[in-house]
Amino acid sequence: MAGREVSMKDWAGVILAAGQGQRMKSSVPKVLHPVGGKPMIAYAVEALRQSGIDDVTLVVSPSGAQGLRGLLGDTVRYVEQPEPLGTGHALLQCATALEGKAQRVIVMGGDSPLIRAETLQALVSKHIQSSAAITLLTTTGALQPDMGRIRRDARGRVTGIVEASDAAMNEEAMEVNVGVYCFDASWLWPNLSRLKKSPRGEYYLTDLISMAVKEKKTVESMVSKDPNEGMGVNDRVQLAQAEAALRRRICEKWMRQGVTITDPAATYIDAEAVIGQDTVILPNTIIQGAARIGRDCTIGPNSFVRASTIGDRCRVTASFIEESTLEPDVDVGPFSHLRQRTHIESQVHIGNFAEVKESRLKRGVKMGHFGYVGDASVGANTNLGAGLVTCNYDGVDKHRTEIGDNAFIGSDTMLVAPVKVGDGASTGAGSVVTKDVPKNRLAVGVPARILEKSS
Ligand code: UD1
Ligand code: CA
Repeated sequence: MAGREVSMKDWAGVILAAGQGQRMKSSVPKVLHPVGGKPMIAYAVEALRQSGIDDVTLVVSPSGAQGLRGLLGDTVRYVEQPEPLGTGHALLQCATALEGKAQRVIVMGGDSPLIRAETLQALVSKHIQSSAAITLLTTTGALQPDMGRIRRDARGRVTGIVEASDAAMNEEAMEVNVGVYCFDASWLWPNLSRLKKSPRGEYYLTDLISMAVKEKKTVESMVSKDPNEGMGVNDRVQLAQAEAALRRRICEKWMRQGVTITDPAATYIDAEAVIGQDTVILPNTIIQGAARIGRDCTIGPNSFVRASTIGDRCRVTASFIEESTLEPDVDVGPFSHLRQRTHIESQVHIGNFAEVKESRLKRGVKMGHFGYVGDASVGANTNLGAGLVTCNYDGVDKHRTEIGDNAFIGSDTMLVAPVKVGDGASTGAGSVVTKDVPKNRLAVGVPARILEKSS
């Protein structure tokens, strides 16, 4: 769509993110609090980008600047608002950087993570078609009572916005301000500096609406059909509301793509996760970060998968998988824990109460029962008996354990690393292996002696 590309070049996007976020009662800037596993601000930036706006400016506070720069780097422009004197004052800080740069400006808060790119696109189109001075996004049926109320005249035209805190007690919040606005830049910049302080001592961006109406400028509006979309996050209660709404949206997306989610209300999938068709997610399952889950898997109940890749046809039952890779056809659990940089090859079986860390278990390994494998590699088709411990830590350093293919590690074996167990070797129950076990030999006792295997 070359036409759209050309017109979107005339647009600048501004995200207001310099508020103190006092109601959060947090030392972390509000817009850096995560929703769906991602800082809120990331949603606003992505929504603008996806709607075709490349030029994005973030209004930041002196104290929040560092954290935001750390997250977003050079992908956006930063403008500092020295003091949080209101949303109007925040936008005014961009005048120097943006005046004369773009014909149209779209402004949104950094604390509304549910706004969709398609909605921004629709708002932008409406603004272009109507040649209004301002086009704003509103919604009805919003959950949150603290949003600005839209006032309309008898003919239904928007006449102004009254902040909830300034509204009369009996004035119901029928239609509210989502906090996303398109402006004609030539009208915006000269008028922004004319805003007066509200009785609360802030410069309200929303006062631009009545200002434009008084000047007989066209003010257009678009009503979002999804009241959740406008959900802002001002405190931790609203943070949980936004999280719940986003979580529902994510579950619905995956269900529409062929994933079975038995109980979406008890399933927590982050925005960045990807799940394959015909996979079943059972209740009380949390999938965090950029997890990749293949097709035909069963995850849960009671499972936690974080930043991991899980191949097709895997089963993870009541287990934790963190920063690990499972090849196809692996089953884990119940009650096991795979930790960082663990790689499980296909057809491995990991049963109950096993912990595996920074290790590679090759094809067909069986670790059916409790035990610890850390800093190890285990060869194909090796059997790890119940109670195996790789003693990888001597109190100062970590050491590696290498077990070959087709080995048999007896129950309650202690492998005192660094140590190697050769292909086809065995260890006896309760042995404490302090020296390498050559190929096809048997280690028994405490400390273990090496014997020939009686065949
Ligand atoms: C604002 C709107 C309200 C709307 C609601 C939607 C105003 C006056 N009110 O209220 O009509 O219904 O959003 O969510 O605009 N910010 C700054 N600098 C400041 C103050 C705020 O950058 O000095 C930023 C905040 O970081 C935030 C955004 O602007 O991302 C909105 O500010 P906030 O204080 O949350 O406004 P609301 O009270 O929610
Ligand atoms: Ca807000």
